[in-house]
Amino acid sequence: MSPPNVQAQARAPGAHLADRPAILQHATQRLLIGDQWGPAASGKSFDSFNPATGEVIARLAEGDASDIDRAVQAARLAFNGEWSQWKPYDRQRLLLRIHDLIDKNFEELALLETLDMGAPVQRTLGLRRYISQLIMFYAGQTINVAGATLPNSLPGNITTLSLKAPVGVVGGIIPWNGPLISQWWILGPVLATGCTAVMKPAEDASLSVLRIAELLREAGMPAGVVNVVTGQGGVAGAALAEHPDVDRIAFTGSTETGRKIIRASASNIKRLQLELGGKSPDILFADADLDVAVPGAAMAAFNNTGQICYAGTRLFVQRSVQEQVLERLTTFSRTLRVGNGIDPKVQLGPIVSAKQLDNVMRYIDIGSKEGATLASGGKRLQGGDFGEGFFVEPTVFGNVSNDMTIAQEEIFGPVISVIPFDDAEHALSLANDIDYGLGGAVWTRSLSTAMKVSHGIKAGTIWVNCYGQIDPGVGFGGYRMSGYGWKGGPQHVDAFLYQKAVYLNLD
Ligand code: NAI
Ligand code: MG
Repeated sequence: MSPPNVQAQARAPGAHLADRPAILQHATQRLLIGDQWGPAASGKSFDSFNPATGEVIARLAEGDASDIDRAVQAARLAFNGEWSQWKPYDRQRLLLRIHDLIDKNFEELALLETLDMGAPVQRTLGLRRYISQLIMFYAGQTINVAGATLPNSLPGNITTLSLKAPVGVVGGIIPWNGPLISQWWILGPVLATGCTAVMKPAEDASLSVLRIAELLREAGMPAGVVNVVTGQGGVAGAALAEHPDVDRIAFTGSTETGRKIIRASASNIKRLQLELGGKSPDILFADADLDVAVPGAAMAAFNNTGQICYAGTRLFVQRSVQEQVLERLTTFSRTLRVGNGIDPKVQLGPIVSAKQLDNVMRYIDIGSKEGATLASGGKRLQGGDFGEGFFVEPTVFGNVSNDMTIAQEEIFGPVISVIPFDDAEHALSLANDIDYGLGGAVWTRSLSTAMKVSHGIKAGTIWVNCYGQIDPGVGFGGYRMSGYGWKGGPQHVDAFLYQKAVYLNLD
């Protein structure tokens, strides 16, 4: 194996990266297939940008169907090889070694993610404990690959039991809004269960996936257990989704791409896990503690510059406190520090790409045209410290009605829509008048209101007087057009297994 030289220098958070971490020069234009780091078969590559500056920071190998095919073959070989003989505690020890290596290299990984997709170091460095827990959770699951003995009413002396076995080769297709975490929702259960994987990271943020693949090998993961093919979604991603020797696809991304993946799965009846778009309702009652609820609701929408699948982008506010909440919300949003996330004081980084920025600006324009009131923000930030980065002000729309485009479509930017309601029934009817069902929240001092709304919102994950917390042992999931397949919790690991019933005639 000849891993590229990717030792980035660890730096104090916020240090300006005048000289670039070496991974930006060397880890690029390389795919990991089996034990080989090498270029795409076609020799093609494409630019990768730092969204805070608009600069090209790396070139990535542009894998295509032939690279995907080589990677799937490597994953199949590994699935059938020595890896299949590893005992649960062997896999657990591997995961614990990976955990320690990731923790040791965490500052570099966090900086890499900041440079690659723009999230501030305040956020990426802050993920250390969370990612540690995520990996520890899956390390603990290796011994839960277990069936059961089951009663039966068959004649004769037949014992019935179930066995669990890993499903095989998993295709992991992930988005750009937080690959440092989101790859673990695939790598964790793959390594815990004895599956193998081909990862296709997003074209706008592949670097942390490449670096972690190196650390997996360094920790002693056998060759081929995890392979990485960078490339375009419509080419490399589509080839992975179509491939007849892939058993399961774990996908996070847009609903539109999710549909294509469902169609592609028909080739060999693949198992699927789909976490798709969202337009999550956040319901704020007049009896809520506004000092907590307003900043909480604002960050539910603005965190990660709004680029979170379960962002609480539709803020339903009880009419009696509507004016007060809107005023507090705009005041709060003006205090948020937007900028290059390499500065530790920055709270909101750029939008990931020029294309996504255009998309967000287009929605802001539509919001005004359809008659919503732009209460604050709404402009692209450019020049001066913002340079040519893809920055946009945190944006608050008041006077929004639930049928407006900005209240129905996923914007994936720092835009919140305030929509008034009268009582819980009214709030729920508005909240559920949407195609998505990923998350939702309620802010209230009344336990009865909290439970009524928790029962009433049609979504996979509900928060009460908080937003966005996810524990790996509990997990989260979607409903309706937000997709299916729970992430986290014991059932997540189970989804990477298949079950066999054994009928044992003892006569
Ligand atoms: P996307 O769904 O196209 O991309 C997600 C991943 O799928 C990427 O790795 C991409 O390369 C891959 N992909 C694209 N086309 C594919 C295909 N035909 N077959 C297999 N894989 C394919 O999302 P995109 O274009 O980056 O963002 C568009 C919108 O999607 C955003 O504005 C946002 O609304 C939504 N989105 C939602 C996310 C979530 O976490 N729910 C994450 C990213 C985007
Ligand atoms: Mg990038």
